Amino acid sequence: MKMHYSMMMLVLALTGGHAAAATEDTCRACHTLTAKLVGPPFREVAARYKDDQQAIEKLKKSMLEGSQGKWGSAAMPANVGLTPAEADRFAHWVMGLNATNKQ
Ligand code: HEC
Repeated sequence: MKMHYSMMMLVLALTGGHAAAATEDTCRACHTLTAKLVGPPFREVAARYKDDQQAIEKLKKSMLEGSQGKWGSAAMPANVGLTPAEADRFAHWVMGLNATNKQ
């Protein structure tokens, strides 16, 4: 039940009603909400940046320019086709997961 709700939120957040559909598939190749694939689970990302005032800016930069060395040996390539507006929306969505991160 909880998982089902989470997946629904992910779909809603990642599609957002317009051209982000291709982008959503891109992210899903490497990320899930709770399990590590190539990249870190979005819930862990949210938890790590919980108290970071620059979280949104940092996550946006990582999505748009790529990131390596923060989470392990795998690198995230710059997400080609992702607009700054979409990156902003994803960053806010990821950080918003903290509200539902209660143990
Ligand atoms: C090819 C695999 C791949 C794809 C595609 C990918 N990621 Fe990543 N992502 C990673 C890896 C690997 C890391 C960890 C990078 C590191 O250690 O610095 C990561 C890290 C992140 C982080 C944390 C960045 C940080 O600064 O700590 C966020 C947020 C993120 N990805 C979001 C996304 C979103 C949103 C998309 C789709 C637009 C996406 N990723 C697509 C592999 C991927």
